[in-house]
Amino acid sequence: MSRNTYILAIDQGTTSTRAILFDEKGLPVATATAQIEHSQILPRAGWVEHDPMEIWSNVRTAMGHVAGDADLEPASVRAIGITNQRETVVVWDKATGKPVYNAIVWQDTRTSGICARLAEGHPAGADRFRETTGLPLSTYFAGPKIRWILDHLDERGERGTERAEAGELLAGTMDSWVVWNLTGGRRGDDDGEAALHVTDVTNASRTLLMDLGTMQWSEEICREIGVPLAMLPEIVPSSGVLGRVTRRRMFGGTPISGILGDQQAALFGQTCFEPGDTKNTYGTGAFLLLNTGTTPQTSDNGLLTTVAYQLGDADPVYALEGSVAMAGSLVQWLRDNLGIISTAAETEGLAMSLEDNGDCYLVPAFSGLLAPHWRPDARGALVGLTRFHTKAHMARAALEATAFQTREMVDAMCADAGEAAGSLRVDGGMVGNGYLMQFQADLLGVDVVRPEVTETTALGAAFAAGLAVGTWDSIDRLRELWREDHRWSPEMPEEERERLMARWRDAVERTLGWADA
Ligand code: G3P
Repeated sequence: MSRNTYILAIDQGTTSTRAILFDEKGLPVATATAQIEHSQILPRAGWVEHDPMEIWSNVRTAMGHVAGDADLEPASVRAIGITNQRETVVVWDKATGKPVYNAIVWQDTRTSGICARLAEGHPAGADRFRETTGLPLSTYFAGPKIRWILDHLDERGERGTERAEAGELLAGTMDSWVVWNLTGGRRGDDDGEAALHVTDVTNASRTLLMDLGTMQWSEEICREIGVPLAMLPEIVPSSGVLGRVTRRRMFGGTPISGILGDQQAALFGQTCFEPGDTKNTYGTGAFLLLNTGTTPQTSDNGLLTTVAYQLGDADPVYALEGSVAMAGSLVQWLRDNLGIISTAAETEGLAMSLEDNGDCYLVPAFSGLLAPHWRPDARGALVGLTRFHTKAHMARAALEATAFQTREMVDAMCADAGEAAGSLRVDGGMVGNGYLMQFQADLLGVDVVRPEVTETTALGAAFAAGLAVGTWDSIDRLRELWREDHRWSPEMPEEERERLMARWRDAVERTLGWADA
């Protein structure tokens, strides 16, 4: 193994942290992968937290596992790429390296009051920062979460705002937290240099604080939201050498040369480099991204404008994104909260045991609806129940909900882009579910295509890191490495597809406003 060179990808996700080694062909090395779950801390309805120290410990363990691969010589790992759950924030004490509060996760809705206050009385309402940041005011994004932590410290007499303004507290998304720790944390590195406090353009574009035109923090918006500039990381490109790992037993000296938020990493790993290229990732949530080239496009249909990637000092590439919060997590809910299945894979057989969906729809608006509705006041509903229905209908409705939500996002994208989708590249945990993939193709009326390497998120981070150190010399070379594994083609008559969509839209309508009633 040592004659080859490898790129190590760290994927710090919502439910687990993985370390995966990729070879020069872009293939994962089976013996050198590790995945460790972390606790989901749910202090009250709508709140979701992670323990940053647990996550950092999992990063170390996962990297240690890869380093322990008997055949691997550390020097054969040329670079490290990092990808992460986006919008989840950590605030930590620069001197001690300790978080001052748990990480507040992207799914958490506790900032609804902050967001409502910021939108109130402004002529553009929740869209007041959209022109600059590409995003609506929503509990989804990172900036208001940072403000919430500072408020919380202030209320406890811990001088959060004052310490943040003085640069004693640092803030960052998970990429920042991992890089800061890898590059020395509170000790700095051996030369006494401070640890790196950075984030890449894709992660920064999810904070509601970055100006999409300049790729810098917007001073005005930071002031409006109440996030002191002194606590924010430096914004860097997605691909380029940032620094080196200083921890000896964790590939010490290896350059860190790629960072991408996980959905942008999946777009990159799917080699969606041309305007019009689209991918959908079926993970905890579902995330559809369309490459729109080097000019940011504003959505009139409820999509987000975001940064897709920036390679070194080249112009950034932008994307339109549709994000839905519940996809795989809905199947998890069937398993963990209702106990009607014991594994996620069972849903496929249950769904296929039925001739049709029995006119039963499950709208997973558990913490409101994100794209394209942006309705925090919606709540989940199972619509159309009769005594005839069984758990098979619930399993099928859960899978179909993911496909219906994806179709809504694709419709919004077609409306924005003015053209219909060609085919859709897919990845993420749920693409092993044949029922879901066929139904998705049926509902979209286009081919759904799965690549050979479905770890596209980690692969994207590896690609970005490897490009920066010369493992691959161009994105054309990366394109050659992408290979199709399976394709599902639509079989459903158009009339049936549209009938189902109309029923779904009707079901969604019934969930709107429930939380405020
Ligand atoms: O925006 C949230 C997203 O980045 C989380 O992705 O795959 O960790 O659920 P995942």
